[in-house]
Amino acid sequence: MRDVNLQVMIDIQNLKKSFGDHVVLKDISMQVTKGSVVAMIGPSGSGKSTLLRCINLLTVPEHGSIRVGEQQFSFGAGKKGSTPLKDRELAKFRTNTGMVFQHFNLFPHMTALENVMEGMLTVLRKPKVEARAQAQALLQKVGLADRADIYPQRLSGGQKQRVAIARALAMQPGVMLFDEATSALDPELVGEVLNVIRSLAADGMTMILVTHEIAFAREVADQVVFMRDGVVVEAGPPEQVIDQPRQAATQAFLSRFNG
Ligand SMILES: Nc1ncnc2c1ncn2[C@@H]1O[C@H](COP(=O)(O)OP(=O)(O)OP(=O)(O)O)[C@@H](O)[C@H]1O
Ligand SMILES: [Mg+2]
Repeated sequence: MRDVNLQVMIDIQNLKKSFGDHVVLKDISMQVTKGSVVAMIGPSGSGKSTLLRCINLLTVPEHGSIRVGEQQFSFGAGKKGSTPLKDRELAKFRTNTGMVFQHFNLFPHMTALENVMEGMLTVLRKPKVEARAQAQALLQKVGLADRADIYPQRLSGGQKQRVAIARALAMQPGVMLFDEATSALDPELVGEVLNVIRSLAADGMTMILVTHEIAFAREVADQVVFMRDGVVVEAGPPEQVIDQPRQAATQAFLSRFNG
C-alpha cells in the first residue's frame, strides 16, 4: 500500500453497522489527518461509541473500509472482514489504536505502574527493566510520578483516568481514541484529564475525542463532527460547526449547551 496518502492517518469509507434490524451507522465516511484532533459530538444513541469501536475493531462493521496508518481492513461480501479476522492481525491493528473509555478498567490488583507496564510485558514483550522505565516516564508525563506504587482503589477518578491514558500510550499507538473520557468524573477532576489530552494534542498525537465538553472541543479540535442517527450531519472546523452550525439538527443540539 505504498500509494496511500499517509498524511491521512485514519481513513473511513462507507462504513455500515447494524445490530439486528437497527442500522446504527449509515454509510459513514471520514478522514483524520496525521497530528490532528477530531471531536465527535451528538445526541445519545447517535452511534459515536459504535463508530469508535469500529475504528479499533472492537465492533466489526458489515460494510466499508477502515485504514489506520498503513493497516487497512475492508468489510462486505468477498472482503477480508467477511471471513473471521485472525487474532494476530486484530491484535496488531489494535495496538496501533489506543482507546480510553469513560470507565477506566484498570486492573485492581496492580499498582498504577504495573497497570502501565502490563501491555508492554504481555503484548510488546519488552524486558521488565525497559517496561518499568518507560512506564515511569509515562506516569510522569500524565503528572503521576509520585503515584506509581498506589493501587487503583486509592486513586481519584481523575488519577485513574490518567493512568488509563498512560497505559494506552505505553503501546505506542499511532492514534488515540477517547470515548467520553471525562464523563464519569466529578467536575473538579475533569480539568486534569483535559490537560493531559491537551498536551498530547500539542505533541502531535492524532486523536478522536467523543465528548460532551463542547468548550474543550472548540479549543482543542481541528475538526468537529456532529453525528445524529448514524449519519454525519455536519463536519468542519469548530468555528463553523460549533459557532455557526449550518444544519438545524446541529443548532438544536448545541442550543442545549448554551442554556
Ligand atoms: N452491542 C449492541 N447491541 C445492540 N445495540 C447496540 C449495541 N451497541 C450499541 N447499540 C445501539 O446502537 C445505537 C448507538 O449506540 P452508541 O453507543 O454508538 O451511541 P452513542 O452516540 O455513543 O450514545 P451515548 O452518547 O449515549 O454514548 C443505540 O441505539 C444503541 O442502543
Ligand atoms: Mg457512547
